[in-house]
Amino acid sequence: MYCVLLLFFVDISFSEDELYFENLEFYNKSYYDFLNNQQTLINDVFKNYDATVSPVYMRTTIIKDEYDIQHSPNIWNYTVFLYYLKLLEIDEPSQKIDVAMELIEYWHDARLTWNYTKYNQTSIYVRQEKIWSPTLYAFGVNEIEDFRDQDFRQASVHFSGQVFTYIPLRISANCALDMQLFPFDKQTCRISFSQPIYYYKEVQVFSQVYELIQKKEGLSTMGNSEWEITSLVANVRSEMFDDGFGNIQLAAFVITLKRNPMYYFYMIILPSFIINTISIIGVFLKGADRMSKARL
Ligand SMILES: *[C@@H]1O[C@H](CO)[C@@H](O)[C@H](O)[C@H]1NC(C)=O
Ligand SMILES: *[C@@H]1O[C@H](CO)[C@@H](O)[C@H](O)[C@H]1NC(C)=O
Ligand SMILES: *[C@@H]1O[C@H](CO)[C@@H](O)[C@H](O)[C@H]1NC(C)=O
Ligand SMILES: *[C@@H]1O[C@H](CO)[C@@H](O)[C@H](O)[C@H]1NC(C)=O
Repeated sequence: MYCVLLLFFVDISFSEDELYFENLEFYNKSYYDFLNNQQTLINDVFKNYDATVSPVYMRTTIIKDEYDIQHSPNIWNYTVFLYYLKLLEIDEPSQKIDVAMELIEYWHDARLTWNYTKYNQTSIYVRQEKIWSPTLYAFGVNEIEDFRDQDFRQASVHFSGQVFTYIPLRISANCALDMQLFPFDKQTCRISFSQPIYYYKEVQVFSQVYELIQKKEGLSTMGNSEWEITSLVANVRSEMFDDGFGNIQLAAFVITLKRNPMYYFYMIILPSFIINTISIIGVFLKGADRMSKARL
């Protein structure tokens, strides 16, 4: 079947001196226009584009050992947007929280801009290797696993120069847990990201949480049987040190969790209670043999 189809198409390409999609018998004219416009657009945009050169503005004018802030344009913005989160596990003895996160990262690259009227297209999808991308670093985590296929990452580029990519991650982060009120405890954990290789005055990091998952219905799907997530907020914190050298900005997601005490009731207290009750009844049961009494 596939063979027949293949021959059929090969035949077309030989019989006419045009590409498949130029044959309007098989393809819609709008699609043909779109593919052509897109090719022209990509050729033009990437003509002088070097994916190894970063768009981050570096302050080179140094006045009195301080970077020249007045004469520089806006600093480069980088945003991590949390689209979904799922709590996998909280490990109390090792003070760790495991979560799966679906993140969208976006930034601006002034070289990836075009006149959308001229090309009749407002955005394009490209392989990420074609464009320059920052690397996301998780700050203070034990383990991070990136589920993307490393060879086929995709990005979406808007005509304004805004670039978007998607990152599904599994993160195991350190979280100081306060167990005093167990099993009625509430915990707060923070998962932070940063761009540590850039000087802190060159890059501004932002974190955002998708509004709909912050609502009660959204939050209720993120916990597990043991924990309920009561809030999820984004914040940016700067770690400032006196020497100014080690300063770093952290784009964080703060997760507040409440333990479900009924989990312990059903999983531990109730089963132990039943087993103990049966054992005790067993001891006083009239017909029970002596050996099993002895074992108790
Ligand atoms: C081509 O696509 C456009 C837009 O989807 C549609 O309006 C038009 O009817 C299609 N033409 C043909 C020949 O299928
Ligand atoms: C970066 O974000 C800040 C605050 O939202 C904004 O004022 C500034 O224009 C942004 N810079 C760029 C280059 O987009
Ligand atoms: C964008 O392209 C359209 C159509 O080619 C042209 O009329 C318009 O002047 C262009 N705009 C700019 C800002 O170059
Ligand atoms: C732009 O694209 C739309 C949809 O594909 C098409 O209907 C329209 O004719 C195009 N305009 C130009 C100027 O090519």
